[in-house]
Amino acid sequence: MNRREWIKRSGYTGLSILLVNNIGAGKSKNEEIIVDGIREATEITKSDFGPDFIWGIASAAYQTEGAWNIDGKSESNWDHFTHNTGKVERGENADDSTDFYHRFEEDIELVKSMNFQVFRFSLSWSRILPNGIGSINQKGLDFYHRVIDKCISVGLEPWITIYHWDMPQVLEAQGGWTSRQMLDWFSEYVDVVTREFGLKVKNWIVMNEQLSYTAGGYLAGVLAPGRKSIGGFLKAVHHSVLCNAIGATIVRRNVEGANIGTTFFTSYIEPVNQEKKNIEAAARVDAAVNRLFIEPSMGMGYPVETLPVLKKISKYFEAGDEQLMIFDFDFIGIQYYFRSIVEKSIIPGIRANEVKASERGVEVNEMGGEIYPEGLYHILKKFSGYKRIRNMLVTENGVCVPDQYENGRIQDNRRIGFFNDHLLAVRMAKEEGINVNGYMVWSPTDNFEWDKGYRTRFGLVYIDYQTKERIMKDSGLWFRNFLK
Ligand code: FCB
Repeated sequence: MNRREWIKRSGYTGLSILLVNNIGAGKSKNEEIIVDGIREATEITKSDFGPDFIWGIASAAYQTEGAWNIDGKSESNWDHFTHNTGKVERGENADDSTDFYHRFEEDIELVKSMNFQVFRFSLSWSRILPNGIGSINQKGLDFYHRVIDKCISVGLEPWITIYHWDMPQVLEAQGGWTSRQMLDWFSEYVDVVTREFGLKVKNWIVMNEQLSYTAGGYLAGVLAPGRKSIGGFLKAVHHSVLCNAIGATIVRRNVEGANIGTTFFTSYIEPVNQEKKNIEAAARVDAAVNRLFIEPSMGMGYPVETLPVLKKISKYFEAGDEQLMIFDFDFIGIQYYFRSIVEKSIIPGIRANEVKASERGVEVNEMGGEIYPEGLYHILKKFSGYKRIRNMLVTENGVCVPDQYENGRIQDNRRIGFFNDHLLAVRMAKEEGINVNGYMVWSPTDNFEWDKGYRTRFGLVYIDYQTKERIMKDSGLWFRNFLK
């Protein structure tokens, strides 16, 4: 489908031609109707998605909580990484961050006031099991009980992500995901938290983006723990795949009536042109980015035929692993931020290279990722091709754009346009019968964005990091109105 067809099919009618002409200039694709300075929703309403569609918003422990060494919490791999490696922009860390630890009530009320129905957050392993395994920190458990209770009291459904990239440093120091002992460590952690919170919380996400923390942490070295080795990466992948299924099995055992999912990083991958070598390069990147984690969990094994370097994972297999990797998830979380264009290169293993969006003259977010809403439609369609996926939710989608705080207000119409266009993509998928039944925004407030520190802001609510004051952006007001 070309862009003109896409725009037609996604519901833009009279404006199509004008808009298509605008795309080349990197402008937003739909008409901007501004009321009181806030961009209106274009050709889309909440009811288009049906009464059962789930509307949520997602955050993560390390990125928001702060209180890094308070009330019995131990050092996490991310505390260690930010304090010691110099790999985060401006040397920043999340020691305080948004101070969600002390301000969660206000933040949960803000989420509610934007009319979301689900609040997705993650647990800090090092707050609950400071030594990784063994003794439990009651104050850590108490904190999450308070968060859960607050959600329930305002009428929000708490959805818990068990692992969103932070683990106790004591475990990372023993190899973290590269160690097979992780199967035992992770099992114990999942067992503790599901027994503790399973009566109150029914929606569980085992992992957040396995690709990001394994490739970013052990191959590219840009995320914790900051290592760079192919062998380490492949071990981490395999142990993560095993733990994803093992963890889900423990949730099933411990939580009656649980709705169990896991989330995957995705990107819509296209070759730079139709030359065979580039098409094949795109297929390899697609295998690494979009297939590496989901296929083994569905009993299809690793995509070794497309990406032969993955054959090396077999070195780390033990008897029974093929079976142990499989879990029949109730839902799959799709996380989508940008499209990637690739070409063949000599880089060993992947033999492909990304053609940077900045070199292509397209609209980009503040991290340089191409803003490409159609990609979300294509990804949903692609994943719907897996027969074993029963239900899909978009569990993260959002954008960092420069926010200006002026006269007590953040007018972020670009962010509003981003959501409008991506929701059109979801609606189009849904209209085609694709089984997508929820959408979660990343993220309630601005927060610590991993290696980018505080430079990039994704929130619907602005954080003044000096005072910790929260100021709802126009995009927050937009959702409040859209979801009412
Ligand atoms: C995703 C992560 C999330 C956040 C967003 C912007 O890849 O899951 O924690 O950093 O990107």
